Amino acid sequence: MSALLPMRASGVCVHRRGKRLIGPVDLVLDGQGITALIGPNGAGKSTLLKALHGLERLSAGRIDWACPQHEAQQMQAFVFQTPVMLRRSVLDNLMYPLRLARTPRAAARAAAAQWCARIGLEGMEGRLATVLSGGERQKLALARALITSPKLLFLDEPSASLDGSATREIEAILTLATGAGTRIVMATHDMGQARRLAREVVFLRRGEVHEAAPAATFFDAPATRAAAAFLAGDIVD
Ligand SMILES: Nc1ncnc2c1ncn2[C@@H]1O[C@H](COP(=O)(O)OP(=O)(O)OP(=O)(O)O)[C@@H](O)[C@H]1O
Ligand SMILES: [Mg+2]
Repeated sequence: MSALLPMRASGVCVHRRGKRLIGPVDLVLDGQGITALIGPNGAGKSTLLKALHGLERLSAGRIDWACPQHEAQQMQAFVFQTPVMLRRSVLDNLMYPLRLARTPRAAARAAAAQWCARIGLEGMEGRLATVLSGGERQKLALARALITSPKLLFLDEPSASLDGSATREIEAILTLATGAGTRIVMATHDMGQARRLAREVVFLRRGEVHEAAPAATFFDAPATRAAAAFLAGDIVD
């Protein structure tokens, strides 16, 4: 398989009804581990994630991958903040992406059962996915995204409104995934989570990258006043 990264976003803008949602954004994505995308509500985190994944029409700029666009698309997965589940069993939800990728049924079923155990849902294989709790649903969505071993995974607030133990489980899955070679870009409001997981931080403000730095640098000595204020818990718009 060809390489996906580096990805280069140059002058990326997304407008909707004459309003600028993000841009211009210049961003390079390379290396391994997790990039935390942080910033105030409405800063454009979700829009940028979707734009990078090809789910938003760009009004300006371009996104270049190390391989052709259609190949790049196949190596990525995206987990929405409120994931949509198929009205089918937990196991069927996990098998679905593999079946789409033409994995034989028996192999897909075995992998799905394995992931079920890994996310602590063993015994729930036959349960309707739509009746799972919020935390169980997030874990299932994550497993469904990771089951095809994507090279790159976009996550929008993977543990918003989850309690401590569900968050810890999600974070353990993410750490496993990066260990297995999946690059992750994740929007989060949880600064503790960003500190625990991220190798680099992109701080978005008013639709633009206000600061991007290695996580240690960003958290210890943010270069901009807005980032420092944001980290201090001040209201930043
Ligand atoms: N479908 C839409 N139509 C019009 N404006 C939109 C749409 N979706 C988002 N926006 C606007 O785009 C801007 C960026 O929104 P976005 O959801 O990307 O921010 P965010 O950083 O993810 O915020 P949050 O922290 O609340 O999740 C906001 O001003 C928002 O109101
Ligand atoms: Mg958002």
